[in-house]
Amino acid sequence: MLKCAVNIYEKIKKKKGYISALAPMEGVTDTVFRQVLCDIGRPDLFYTEFLNVEGFCSKGRKKVIHRLDYAPKERPIVVQLWGNTPEDYVETLEYVKKLKPDGIDINIGCSVRDVLSSGRCSALIKEKDLVKEIIRTVQKASGGLPVSVKTRLGYDEVDVEGWIGFLLTLNLNLITIHGRTSKEGYSTPSRWDKISECVKLRDEISPRTLIIGNGDIKSLKQGEKYVEEYGVDGFMVARGIMNNPWLFSGRNRKEISSEEKRDALLKHLKLFDGTWKGTKPFNSQKKYIKAYISGFDGANELRKNLMVTKNTEEVVKILDNFC
Ligand SMILES: Cc1cc2nc3c(=O)[nH]c(=O)nc-3n(C[C@H](O)[C@H](O)[C@H](O)COP(=O)(O)O)c2cc1C
Repeated sequence: MLKCAVNIYEKIKKKKGYISALAPMEGVTDTVFRQVLCDIGRPDLFYTEFLNVEGFCSKGRKKVIHRLDYAPKERPIVVQLWGNTPEDYVETLEYVKKLKPDGIDINIGCSVRDVLSSGRCSALIKEKDLVKEIIRTVQKASGGLPVSVKTRLGYDEVDVEGWIGFLLTLNLNLITIHGRTSKEGYSTPSRWDKISECVKLRDEISPRTLIIGNGDIKSLKQGEKYVEEYGVDGFMVARGIMNNPWLFSGRNRKEISSEEKRDALLKHLKLFDGTWKGTKPFNSQKKYIKAYISGFDGANELRKNLMVTKNTEEVVKILDNFC
């Protein structure tokens, strides 16, 4: 950790008292969605979708590099990396640093089966020596950017002392803790009481390492309440944003007019067309139709019609007739 430089996490914390973050979500929180959120309610901190360092260092680079795209207005933004090959982190970081993100995050939390069987992400919880090597390598190669880890409470079992305690010895700037074990996936509620224990341990072992709690946050108010209640330095929202894309503005879905919802969807799809230029299938956008178009009279019927569209022009036509 750089002792003298104030990093982005400390800056936000000092200014606001806590950090609100939009979680990295593969296939969801791309630059298009993040840019729309900048206009309708943004968090203090964005993360990119995760980028596999082995994929980046292979012939497949072209297929994954788009995950690093971001517009200046999205800053502060943290690039999230995953993988288990320290040298590939170094090579990837040479490129990432040129993009001037605000931080580097290492994913040690994803529990998708294929990822686990390859020994990456939360499978690394069982490989402390390798984790130490990866973190040390990234800290050295990050060019002074703050380095963080996003993880879970343990692999098979909650292991605050053994796992989080270990991470706290590694001079990280920030740790985000999703309050479940790897084995649990999403099957239990996020254990915020255990996240709170991690904060107490942090106070003993590494007071300068900030802790963001994650899991089951559905509103700004709830996030702020959890900051108070559990002592975390911030909160991170993932699935909740698809239930209410206006979440970070503090407005609940019912308070947003149907016109605002329509406009947000149109903005999103125009940006989608302009950004990806046909390289991503239009069907990948249906999840956003569901996210924006709900919670008003006639939304269900409208959504049904929008779900069978094949391109933005068809959506525009339907929305023109609706309003
Ligand atoms: C569709 C989807 C994609 C995700 N992709 C990532 C990812 O790329 N990196 C990551 O660290 N976590 C990823 N996650 C996990 C979330 O960031 C978050 O830790 C988890 O969903 C718990 O938060 P929530 O209860 O607010 O959803 C993903 C989750 C979902 C639902």
